[in-house]
Amino acid sequence: MKNRILGNTGANVSEIGFGAWAIGGGWGPQANDDSIAALNKALDLGVNFIDTAEVYGNGKSEQIIGEVLRSRNSQVYVATKTPPVPGKWPPSPYCKAEDRYPEAYLRKNIDERRKNLGVDCIDLLQLHTWSRAWNRNPTPLDVLKKLQAEGKIKHIGISTPEHDQNSLIELMRKGYLDAVQVIYNIFEQEPVAELLPAAIEHNVGVIIRVAFDEGSLTGKYALGQEFPADDFRSRYFQADRLDRTVSRVERIKEDLAKLMPADSYTLADVALRFVLAHPAVSTIIPGIRNIHQAEANTKVSDMPPLPDAVIHKLRDHYWHRGIWYGGK
Ligand SMILES: NC(=O)c1ccc[n+]([C@@H]2O[C@H](COP(=O)([O-])OP(=O)(O)OC[C@H]3O[C@@H](n4cnc5c(N)ncnc54)[C@H](OP(=O)(O)O)[C@@H]3O)[C@@H](O)[C@H]2O)c1
Repeated sequence: MKNRILGNTGANVSEIGFGAWAIGGGWGPQANDDSIAALNKALDLGVNFIDTAEVYGNGKSEQIIGEVLRSRNSQVYVATKTPPVPGKWPPSPYCKAEDRYPEAYLRKNIDERRKNLGVDCIDLLQLHTWSRAWNRNPTPLDVLKKLQAEGKIKHIGISTPEHDQNSLIELMRKGYLDAVQVIYNIFEQEPVAELLPAAIEHNVGVIIRVAFDEGSLTGKYALGQEFPADDFRSRYFQADRLDRTVSRVERIKEDLAKLMPADSYTLADVALRFVLAHPAVSTIIPGIRNIHQAEANTKVSDMPPLPDAVIHKLRDHYWHRGIWYGGK
C-alpha cells in the first residue's frame, strides 16, 4: 500500500481508505461479523484512513470502527461527519448556517462522535453538507476552530454538496479547510476544472468518495437489476437510471477492451486507478463491506498507473447527468 500526504494536515494516509457507510447499514443486509472482518482485513493490508459519519446507521458505523480500533494497535486516521440539524438536504440557499449548524448543537454532536469512536480528539471532523449561501460568513467553521483549540478535533473538513461541489473552493482559498471530501469518478470529472487544482494550490487534503458511482463502475450491475427497498441504491438508481448507467458502463468496457488485455485489470481496478492518476487526490474511500472488497480494493494501490492512452479515453466518458440525490 502506498501512502500520500493529506494536504497541510501532514497526515501520511493510505491511497486506498475505507468507506464505512455500508457497514452502518442502508445498503441491504449487513452482518456485523462481515463488517468487522472487512475492517480488520483492510487494516492488515495497509489501510490507515477510514471515513464514517453519524448518519451511517445513527452512529453504528462509528461504533464498529471504535471497537475494531480498540482491539488492535494500529495507527489509523479516522474522519467522521456531523450532519446539519434536520431540514432540507441539501440545505436550501434560504437556510441560515447558524440554524443548521448552531454552536450548541455542534458541541453536543461532536461529543457524541468522540464517544462513539472512543477518542478524546477526532482526527478529521467534516460537516456533512454545505451551502454556498454560507460562504460569506461561515459561522460553523468558526465554531469548529474553537473546538480545535479545545483539543476536541484535530482537523476540519467539509463533504461537498453533490449539486455544487465548487462551493467549497472559496473556503479553501480563505484557509478554512484542512480537507475536502469530493465526488470524482469516470462519470463525474467536473472537479478537474477547478476544485482539484485549487486543492493543490492551497495544499488542502482531498478525500475522494463514490469512486465507483455507488458500485456501477465496478461493472457488476445488469440491465433491469432491482435493489431491495432497504438498499439506498433502489432510490439512487430509480426508474431508468440503472439501465442508462449500465449502458454507459458497457461503452467504457468496450473502449478498455481495445486498449488493454482483458486479464490485466478489472473495471473496478480501472475506476480506482483513474482517480489515483490525479495529483490532487490524497486518498480514495471506496465503500468496503466484506473481506473480498477489502482485498480487491487495497491491491490497486500497488498496481502500475494506467497508460496515458487509457486515461485519455476515459476522459471521453465524463457524463454530465445532473444530480441524482437518493430519494428524489
Ligand atoms: N455525502 C457524503 O459525504 C458521502 C456520500 C456517499 C458516500 N460517502 C463516503 O464515501 C464512501 C464510498 O462511497 P459509497 O460507498 O457510497 O460508494 P462507492 O464506493 O462508489 O460504491 C460502493 C459499493 O461498491 C461495491 N464494491 C466495492 N468494492 C467493490 C469491488 N472491488 N468489486 C465489486 N464491487 C465493489 C459495493 O457494493 P455491494 O454493496 O454490492 O457489495 C459497495 O457497497 C462511503 O462508504 C462513505 O464513507 C460520503
